[in-house]
Amino acid sequence: MKNIGVLTSGGDAPGMNAAIRAVVRAGIENAWSVFGVRRGFAGLIEGDFVPLGARNVGGIIQHGGTVLGTSRCEEFKSDDGLTRAHRNLVDKKFDALVVIGGNGSQTGACMLSRKGFQVVGIASTIDNDLWGTEISIGVDSALNVALESIDRLKVTASSHRRAFLVEVMGRNSGYLALIAGITGGAEVVVIPEVEIHPDEVATELRAAYERGKAHAFAVVAEGARYNARALSNYFQEHKEELGFQLRVTTLGHVQRGGTPGAFDRLLATRFGIAAVERIQQSKDPVLIGLLKGEVTATPLEEVISNEKKIDLKLFEAARILAR
Ligand code: F6P
Repeated sequence: MKNIGVLTSGGDAPGMNAAIRAVVRAGIENAWSVFGVRRGFAGLIEGDFVPLGARNVGGIIQHGGTVLGTSRCEEFKSDDGLTRAHRNLVDKKFDALVVIGGNGSQTGACMLSRKGFQVVGIASTIDNDLWGTEISIGVDSALNVALESIDRLKVTASSHRRAFLVEVMGRNSGYLALIAGITGGAEVVVIPEVEIHPDEVATELRAAYERGKAHAFAVVAEGARYNARALSNYFQEHKEELGFQLRVTTLGHVQRGGTPGAFDRLLATRFGIAAVERIQQSKDPVLIGLLKGEVTATPLEEVISNEKKIDLKLFEAARILAR
C-alpha cells in the first residue's frame, strides 16, 4: 500500500491527461492511493492535493491541456520553496511523486529527489528537447496542429502566388520547425541549430517561383536568430528587390492547445503505467521516455545534465526535398 502524488508542470502538452489517467488507474490496480497536485510545483508548495479515483479521471483522455492545471513556478527554485514542497509531501505521508513535464519540470523533480524523496518523471513537452527520450508527450499532436495550419495557408498562398513564413514554437530547439517543414513541404526551414542569413531565405523562396511553384513557404523556429519578427523586418526593408509578397503567421500557443491524437494518448498511457511500475521496482529517480521503440527509465541526473541535439541529417533532408 502506497500513497503517490502526480502533477503536471511547465507548458501543457496534449496527452498530459492520458498520462494522469494511466498513473491513477495503474496505481489503483496496485491498491495504492493516488493524489493529484493542482498547478504543478506551485500547488506542491501550497499543499494543494486532491484524491483521485478511477472515476475522477474518466472522460479526460481526449482532452488537451491538463485537468490538474500547471504552472511555471519560480518559487520552487528557491531553497524555501523546495523545502516547503518537500515538507508537504512528507507530512502527507506520500511515498513517491510522478512529475509530468519537460526540461524545467524534470530539473525540479531532480531537486526534490536530491532531498531523498522518490520521484519519477514522465517526458512531456511539445518542444521534444528532453534528453532520455526520442519523443515526448505532445510533440505529435502539436506537429499535426502546425501541419494543418501550413496546409491551409498553402491553399491561400497558391491562390495569390504569395510567399508565406510560418513560425512555430520549440523554445531553443528547432525540432518542431524541422519536422513541420519536412512534412509540410517547406522551401526552407530556419532553426536555431543552423544559422541561415535572411538573404539565403529570400533566395530559396525566389527559387521556388523560378521552378514554377505557385507559392513559396518558409517554416521558422521561434528560437532561431532570424525568427519571424527578424525575417519580417528584413523582408520589409528589402521589399523592392524581392519581387514577391511575404505574409507572416506566428502559430504560437495554438500548437499547444490541440486535441491529443492516438499516438500521444498511447504514448502517455504507456509512460503512466511504466511510472507506476518503476515506483514499485526502485527508488532511484528516473525519467520515463521512449528509446528505440521501448519505454525506458533514464537517471534524472543524466537527463538534466545533457542537451538533446536534433538530427542534422533531417535538416539536409529538408533541403534535398525542397525542389
Ligand atoms: O516549452 C513549451 C513551450 O510551448 C515552448 O515551445 C515555448 O517557447 C514556451 O513553452 C512558451 O511558454 P509560455 O506558455 O509560458 O509562454
